[in-house]
Amino acid sequence: MAERSFYITTPIYYVNGRPHIGHAYTTIAADAIARWHRLDGRTVRFLTGTDEHGQKVLEKAKERGMDPKAHVDDMVRHWKAAWDRMEIQYDHFIRTTDPHHIACVQGVLQRLYDAGLIYKDTYTGWYSKSVERFWTEKDLIDGKCPETGQPVEEITETNYFFKMSGFQDRLVAHLEANPGYIRPESRKNEVLGFLRRPLEDLCISRPKARMGWGIEIPFDTEFVTYVWFDALLNYVSGVGYPDTDDVLWNTFWPVDFHLIGKDILTTHAVYWSTMLMALDVPLPKCMYAHGWWMSNDGSKMSKSLGNVIDINLLADEFGVDATRYFFLREIAFGADGGFTYDGFLTRYNADLANDLGNLAHRSLSMSTKWLGDQAPAYGEVGEAEEAMRELAGVAYREYRTAIEGLQYNKALTALWGLVKAGNKYIDTEQPWRLNRDGSVERLRTVMRTVQEVCAFVGVLLLPVMPNKAKELLGKLGQDERQARDALSALAALEGGPVSFDRLEGNPLNVGDPLFPRFRELPPRIAKLFEAESEPPAPPTPKPQVPKPSPDSDTITFDAFKKVQLRAGTILSAEKHPNADKLVVMKVDVGEERPRNIVAGIANRFAPEDLPGRKIVVVVNLAPTKLRGVLSEGMLLAAGGKEVVDLVTVDAEPGEVVR
Ligand code: MSP
Repeated sequence: MAERSFYITTPIYYVNGRPHIGHAYTTIAADAIARWHRLDGRTVRFLTGTDEHGQKVLEKAKERGMDPKAHVDDMVRHWKAAWDRMEIQYDHFIRTTDPHHIACVQGVLQRLYDAGLIYKDTYTGWYSKSVERFWTEKDLIDGKCPETGQPVEEITETNYFFKMSGFQDRLVAHLEANPGYIRPESRKNEVLGFLRRPLEDLCISRPKARMGWGIEIPFDTEFVTYVWFDALLNYVSGVGYPDTDDVLWNTFWPVDFHLIGKDILTTHAVYWSTMLMALDVPLPKCMYAHGWWMSNDGSKMSKSLGNVIDINLLADEFGVDATRYFFLREIAFGADGGFTYDGFLTRYNADLANDLGNLAHRSLSMSTKWLGDQAPAYGEVGEAEEAMRELAGVAYREYRTAIEGLQYNKALTALWGLVKAGNKYIDTEQPWRLNRDGSVERLRTVMRTVQEVCAFVGVLLLPVMPNKAKELLGKLGQDERQARDALSALAALEGGPVSFDRLEGNPLNVGDPLFPRFRELPPRIAKLFEAESEPPAPPTPKPQVPKPSPDSDTITFDAFKKVQLRAGTILSAEKHPNADKLVVMKVDVGEERPRNIVAGIANRFAPEDLPGRKIVVVVNLAPTKLRGVLSEGMLLAAGGKEVVDLVTVDAEPGEVVR
């Protein structure tokens, strides 16, 4: 395989249902790494597709009263549409009903049969429809399928078998000699554990009389191929096999990564590896088994339980890019994760609206307001800027190593270290103060440094959030070609700082916020919970809590809870044009746009004392005009009529105060 090529696959998905977040998870992960390598100049092949044969699909077709081929043709539309929606840039979408794939499967069967590696036998076993495979008596748990807990059926049948048992020792030796073959490490140990028991031969056919929806066995037309034997071969038929002179084959095999869920590890690690050994085809470089997304209560997501998360709903309400970001950032690839909408909202607001969105918006709006609509030239560059450049170098190296090892959350955490440092740098350097003091040189340096941070982050985010990253780069006057150049410049960097020299003179465009903040779950999602909530309990006698008299100042906790308090940083302040006691401020409360807040604090504070102070703001007060100037919130202060101090808090803008 050419050194600069990269081949990645997802499982091919059963077309007995529509895609949900579990499927989207693998596919987004594959897309992100494929995009990364493309951006990095590699020739990439990203293969995904649909698994269209077998009993489950046939039953679904019957349920819909459709011919199986008509059913699969219809279902494929949903899968392709979902991947288009999620911005999945696959290079090829394979279907196991494709003629080339069928020919490949039949060619392989014939070859293994001719080589004496496939034989006919009569077998009795416990068949689980839910996973389309036979189990032995001792595999069963309480007489049920050990994987799904579904009932199994004892079946005696004549079938064809692949001599898988003969490859056991070779497989164990391969796993031991190649520690990176199955990842994460814990999964490799699981497979080795499985291989401690003698490996049996694999039943690779189904009699047509029982289940006819599959690829016909070329040497016995009474049988079709077992769906897993058929499906696994997609990984090679998708790059030209069995034509080993094919340019695709020579460019891309052996595959770099098979991404799979942990539930399909055995079929890959054992069936697929031994099939390849039998065919004398080099083994994959790595099979990476990721964890599962569980529903809120820790149970598996399933249609019948009605707890499947709709990927389109997330994309509609929060955007495709935020959805992609969430899945890659929230949990380690390999671990299980519990999905909740609240968790999604929290992650969105913290990382996207507050950290990244705020950094971009602040750096662009302050810069265009005070320095014009081009990225400024640096003034003198000091220690703080050198530190940001060093940090970017560190973030780049950590990001690269992590993403290439499919540790997406680690890669994004490294990048966010820089985003947060960018926000902190603004807070420390206080550009509003520099502007007020007329320190234009220094102001240019600070604004430019933050813009370079944004552009740097934008490039590295292209694989994860392709549209938002492009939008961010666009705001800084960068296109994708420049982003690609920037990445090669980074790749050439052996170590040390990033030079931050890309943007001078670029047109800046503040535009709309990248990630508008959500105060609460979007109505379409909130409604799901209303529908699910329990019917109201029968009325119970109310405890005798003394009621506040109508003229009392006491309020209930529920009433107090309505007051939303947040941390804010004063960005600028000036005297009120029409009132001596009032000060007019711009306050960053973690939103894309600072709030205008008018407060009666002039008796105690001169406007120039205020920028940079970290205060507490009531953010859900109805906006009002105070002596003709709009006030969009209220700050908390101590003192009666005469203010003695501001209530301050050492927290990032937007942090909830309670
Ligand atoms: N058709 C087989 C794969 C054949 S590959 C040669 C199959 N299809 S599937 O549609 O049932 O599942 C495909 C993938 O989705 C599996 O990797 C599975 O782990 C993954 N997921 C299904 N539900 C999931 C979650 N809730 N969470 C994460 N991934 C999950 O198996």
